[in-house]
Amino acid sequence: MSSVLLEISSLAKSFGGNQVLSKVNMKIEAGEIVGLLGPNGSGKSTLLNAASGFMAADAGRVCFGGIDIQTLPAEQIVSRGMARTFQLPSMPSKMSVLEVLMTAGSSQACVWRSLWPGKRDRQLDEELLAKARELLSALMLEPVKDLAASSLSGSQKKLLSIACALMKNPKFLMLDEPTAGVHPNLRRDIVKILRQINVERGITQLIVEHDMFFVREVCTRCVVLDRGEIVADCRPDDLIHHPRVIEAYLGQARVSVQTDREKSV
Ligand SMILES: Nc1ncnc2c1ncn2[C@@H]1O[C@H](COP(=O)(O)OP(=O)(O)OP(=O)(O)O)[C@@H](O)[C@H]1O
Ligand SMILES: [Mg+2]
Repeated sequence: MSSVLLEISSLAKSFGGNQVLSKVNMKIEAGEIVGLLGPNGSGKSTLLNAASGFMAADAGRVCFGGIDIQTLPAEQIVSRGMARTFQLPSMPSKMSVLEVLMTAGSSQACVWRSLWPGKRDRQLDEELLAKARELLSALMLEPVKDLAASSLSGSQKKLLSIACALMKNPKFLMLDEPTAGVHPNLRRDIVKILRQINVERGITQLIVEHDMFFVREVCTRCVVLDRGEIVADCRPDDLIHHPRVIEAYLGQARVSVQTDREKSV
């Protein structure tokens, strides 16, 4: 049996005359942690939006667990095991951090309730609360659990959105720049958590990230987008030597300078 969890085929998206994704193909196998890299504006967030069903693509397919999810309602995509975060998370203005977490988990609880109708709601709420507490502690959000989620700093909102995604018990997690702006100590904790959930719970991940330390510590494979096309698919250690990656980040001029230098050595 194939272990491909996500298969994206010929995915295309444009905004007006701006072709942002051009026939993108990508396969992610169960258990992988794939880093999605590329210069600013190369289409990474758009790819996550289209791959998660958040935004309709112009053409192409997104199969998750063998089923095209593009026309499924969001809650069905989540109940199939896909969860994601956004590059700029927004939070409801009146809910506390703990309430936001409990709400993120409760749509999953509705599914559990329908599967095991005999299970008492109070027990489910206790399980959700225990999970929320565990995540609050792991992501250093315990001290702010009673504050309005909308009052958190940008980095704290990022941490809360990771916690919300994990409340949904995903088997596949898509994260859009999870450590951008986060303090280095906490960044190391996030690295640990993402590796841990991969090893212990088998959670497959697709992570948009610019930080090379993070990519080398966490990812098993890297895909690089440039102007809406995949230009590299390689191991993290091979990224810095990949000519198409150098070209994408530094421009053609730099590649020819390097080649000239190599020639003269
Ligand atoms: N909703 C939208 N409407 C119009 N243009 C959009 C929209 N979303 C994205 N774009 C355009 O698509 C291109 C790719 O944007 P995207 O956000 O996917 O890039 P990115 O690789 O995530 O960049 P960054 O690293 O800066 O987050 C940009 O030119 C952007 O202006
Ligand atoms: Mg982006």
